[in-house]
Amino acid sequence: MRNDHIKTELPGPNACAMIARDAEVISPSYPRDYPFVMSHGRGTEVWDVDGNRFLDFAAGIAVCATGHAHPQVVGAVQKAAEKFLHISSDYWHEEMTGLGERIARVAPMREPAMSFLCQSGTEAVEGALKLARYITRRPRFIGFLGGFHGRTMGSLSFTSSKYTQQLGFAPTMPGVTHVPYPNPYRPLFAGADQGKAVLDYIRTLFERSVPAAEVAAILVEPMQGEGGYLVPPDGFLAGLRALCDEHGILLIFDEVQSGVGRTGRMFACEHWDVAPDIMTLAKGLGSGLPIGAVVARKSLMAQWQRRARQYLRRQSDRLRRGERDDRPCLWRLQGQRRDRRRAFHGSPARIAARFPVYRRSARQGFDDRHGAGRERRWEDAGSRALR
Ligand SMILES: Cc1ncc(COP(=O)(O)O)c(C=O)c1O
Repeated sequence: MRNDHIKTELPGPNACAMIARDAEVISPSYPRDYPFVMSHGRGTEVWDVDGNRFLDFAAGIAVCATGHAHPQVVGAVQKAAEKFLHISSDYWHEEMTGLGERIARVAPMREPAMSFLCQSGTEAVEGALKLARYITRRPRFIGFLGGFHGRTMGSLSFTSSKYTQQLGFAPTMPGVTHVPYPNPYRPLFAGADQGKAVLDYIRTLFERSVPAAEVAAILVEPMQGEGGYLVPPDGFLAGLRALCDEHGILLIFDEVQSGVGRTGRMFACEHWDVAPDIMTLAKGLGSGLPIGAVVARKSLMAQWQRRARQYLRRQSDRLRRGERDDRPCLWRLQGQRRDRRRAFHGSPARIAARFPVYRRSARQGFDDRHGAGRERRWEDAGSRALR
């Protein structure tokens, strides 16, 4: 089938040669179903390495939100590359803070929002799960059949649009219970309202097998993508919200695919005016650049401090309040054995040997057990050392 746009048999000779080279050096685990070998793209069109021209309906699975090689995206990449490409999240820079501000301005939460930025959708989902566990201290989750949330171990535990996605990788993260996503085209439940039926099913689970008080979060795509592009019935997301509020469960909307304008609103959940506690973003956020975000209500995200800093700050607060801590400093560090091992890989003696400030404090401070100035020094030095 040759025409003005298709100049060779498909795949063409250059594409065949590339696919053969690739097979020698790239993992065969990628799900590549079509032998398309890309040369370049412009807007909605892509060209292969044999000069054949196609309309791109996939956009990298809903990634290239602005089309290929959008001049503003190209310009932003060039500008960034000329200044710097990486400094690690240990420091501050305008692009990171500015993005946090822009996300906060459009986030669908009904209170100020904060973001944790990362590199992909699956990583954003991992972050959301960790945040939910950290905040609630609960071990269980509810996910949905047909859902796609990524392929790392935590997100994979929820991913269930095909059984092959989990085949060979068990055990995944424990504590995830899948329930059907309301599907008006292939209904699993009796009755006209599949959304209400699913909500009733979750209630039955809570009565019979999954203690609601142990559920940290419900993770759901506000419109299911890979599972069949399903728009849930009106009232379903609001019902989930009510169920979560009733049981102190956090509601996580995975907007990795549906977010950033993909469904005609900035976020799919806005079609029903339902606010999540936590939301995951990626794909369209970078229009091809690797970026993801965990966006959460500020009152939740603000609790997610570095553990060590939190501990040291708690100690300082106690001292400021005049509460005595009778344990000498290194003894206190010893009490944090698990954290210390992770951070210092050694005993208090090794810590003192490695960090002069602790040596000094150990010498001077064993009997000065509640000097706020010293505690402040410890806090600062501890923060530095724990990096
Ligand atoms: C809803 C949803 N969540 C998470 C992911 C994982 O994103 P990534 O491929 O960037 O890891 C995807 C990817 O298709 C997705 O559609």
